[in-house]
Amino acid sequence: MSRTPLLAGNWKMNMDHLQAIKLVQELGLDLEDHKFNYADADVVVLPPFTDLRSVQTVVESDKMKIAYGAQDISVHDNGAYTGEVSASMLVKLGCTYVVVGHSERREYHCESDAVVNEKTKVTLAAGMTPIVCCGEGLEIRQAGTHVDHVLKQINGAFDGISAEDALKCVVAYEPIWAIGTGEVATPDDAQEVCGAIREKLAELYGQEVADKMRVLYGGSVKSSNVKEILSRPDIDGALVGGASLKADEFSRIVRQDG
Ligand code: 13P
Repeated sequence: MSRTPLLAGNWKMNMDHLQAIKLVQELGLDLEDHKFNYADADVVVLPPFTDLRSVQTVVESDKMKIAYGAQDISVHDNGAYTGEVSASMLVKLGCTYVVVGHSERREYHCESDAVVNEKTKVTLAAGMTPIVCCGEGLEIRQAGTHVDHVLKQINGAFDGISAEDALKCVVAYEPIWAIGTGEVATPDDAQEVCGAIREKLAELYGQEVADKMRVLYGGSVKSSNVKEILSRPDIDGALVGGASLKADEFSRIVRQDG
């Protein structure tokens, strides 16, 4: 089963729009310098909302094959929702991906599985690709119930979503204890959960659909560990935080050059 790897950089709340322009330009140039073949992997950056217009301008004017998207989305179409950004606004900016249900949004903004489900549907309805995040905290991992916990999140996120729409989604498994800590899940730990996610997707949508969907790993991914992580059968790419903020390092990650 060949699934095109997806390497996505979640910049989180880093980089103003001027820094964003520089980072995207440097990334594009570095990949070009290394003769990176964009057919080998999908490359995505996920900047803060305030950078999206600038990133759009750079990507379009330089005809870059880098896709971009947002870190969150409103469940509402428009109206009196101070601080929120709608799907149509993101589409207008050329966004093709949206991170949904990142653990930092679940934790600091009380996003439940039901909200994650709504955001996934809103993203799909607008024609963008949701990157649906799941993952367990340290206590759950230590209690050994991490697989059950993650599968419950998957059940919630995909509630009422058709097989046709599920095919348009990407799932990202990000164990919270491995995010920004330098503590990477071992490739076998990551495979255990990513494999269980694919089995759950097969149960929900059939094996053929599950085999086509991409499941990413995220949590302290860097150029030195990406290759081994991606060598596991059910890991189709990475959602990268800190290491995506440096063009040369993220370029190495994309090229799997440790
Ligand atoms: P780090 O790569 O900094 O651990 O962050 C992972 C993450 O949360 C990406 O969404």
